Amino acid sequence: MSTRTIADWTAHWDAKAGIDNPVELNGYCVGGIPIPREQYLQAVVRPLLERLELDPLHEVLDIGCGSGMTLLEIEKRVARAVGTDISRTLLARYPGKATTHLCPAHELPFSGESFDRILMFSVAHYFPDLAYLREVTESCLSLLRRDGILLVGDLPIGVPPAQSPYLWFDRHQLVDLLDSLGFPYSIAAQGRLKRTINRRYDVIIYKD
Ligand SMILES: C[S@@+](CC[C@H](N)C(=O)[O-])C[C@H]1O[C@@H](n2cnc3c(N)ncnc32)[C@H](O)[C@@H]1O
Repeated sequence: MSTRTIADWTAHWDAKAGIDNPVELNGYCVGGIPIPREQYLQAVVRPLLERLELDPLHEVLDIGCGSGMTLLEIEKRVARAVGTDISRTLLARYPGKATTHLCPAHELPFSGESFDRILMFSVAHYFPDLAYLREVTESCLSLLRRDGILLVGDLPIGVPPAQSPYLWFDRHQLVDLLDSLGFPYSIAAQGRLKRTINRRYDVIIYKD
């Protein structure tokens, strides 16, 4: 259970309005210092794009897209890209052409099987609890077409350090949740370079 609410996190991200560096704006820092952009692309974005197995015909949803550093790369590679986020400030900084929506992950303004890929990267640890992740994951799976991939990435799994403001995921509870969804999935450790930033995991669910 997180000690912070969605409203708290919205205020947290909106307060970053004055930050120019997009890597820092989206919270990719080590000890408060933003990681260099090329390291960010290599450690975070390129491995993500590989795991998403994008096709030029795909329609892709990026939930919690922030200022869209990954959405921008996705937009160049697919037929349609859409982003959502709770922060007006971060969405306002999106430099691309993809459509964006201001909404929390549990109130997505879509219906039916309308996406081939759904990405939610470095977002779930801002959720209030595991039940919220379940609700969002089930809604994503209902929006995903057959042969689709849902990637819920950058999850902190394990015992939270003292006073962590984030939601940490207990590995047994997370596996129980994933098993109950009824789709094949994998939990992958992130690559070596990403582990130098923090040690997190990607959950990849396949809607077969
Ligand atoms: C660390 S940033 C990651 C941004 C982007 N996914 C990336 O990897 O560059 C976390 C983002 O999650 C968004 N977020 C947090 N809680 C959310 C929620 N409940 N629904 C939608 N977005 C949320 C924040 O506003 C912020 O933009």
